[in-house]
Amino acid sequence: MRIIEAIDYEHMSSLAARFLIDKISTNPELVLGLATGGTPRGTYKRLIEDHRMNGTSYKEITTYNLDEYVGFSPDNPNSYHTFMSENLFSELDIQKNNIHLPNGVALDLVEECKAYEERIEKTGGIDIQLLGMGSNGHIGFNEPGTSFEANTHLVELTQSTREANARFFNHIDDVPHEAITMGIATIMRSREILLLVSGETKRSALKELLSGDVRESFPASVLNRHPHVTIIADQKAL
Ligand code: F6R
Repeated sequence: MRIIEAIDYEHMSSLAARFLIDKISTNPELVLGLATGGTPRGTYKRLIEDHRMNGTSYKEITTYNLDEYVGFSPDNPNSYHTFMSENLFSELDIQKNNIHLPNGVALDLVEECKAYEERIEKTGGIDIQLLGMGSNGHIGFNEPGTSFEANTHLVELTQSTREANARFFNHIDDVPHEAITMGIATIMRSREILLLVSGETKRSALKELLSGDVRESFPASVLNRHPHVTIIADQKAL
């Protein structure tokens, strides 16, 4: 596990964007796993700036997002489809057909989880998975206690995750109770992982992760078993 120390959120975002741009330049057909939330927003902003200024192209890039809320259609303003479109995709030359997020309004949600997993496999797997981490150690929406064997699946969100995400909604009651998420096994099959960690609220989770104690009650700890992980963390989180 390689740990890169950033001065602050902005610096972490610049380093993460540089990391991804270098990979995209080396392999213009990269399959990228992406995350939503506050942590990667600054990175996405910089990818857009770079695309505008330097012309880095996403025409042949394929993306798979970690998760989506159940019950939210792609055009719901609080869906992760909308988040990704507003924060990244609409500003890049990426092809719509190459963008993948779970369908939170699929008639058969269990079937959708299976199909999502199959789509990733058919593409040849994820080259680089970008991750944020919850202060309880969740990655994707894999809450504490999730089996390390889990593939893409349906989850019930914990109260603490719903409270943390309420900042993106008008009221906590509007935060869904369920989501579809890539499983820990799905994430671990990525060839490379880039984890971003910022701010004091993540400090104890990062300490826990770096302790090397791998257990299902702290999902991010599984990353200690992955051969190719880079963590970019800012000083407040370290
Ligand atoms: C987002 C995701 C979550 C977030 C985590 C941290 O797609 O799957 O695991 O990465 O909740 O969220 P922020 O970055 O908002 O602190």
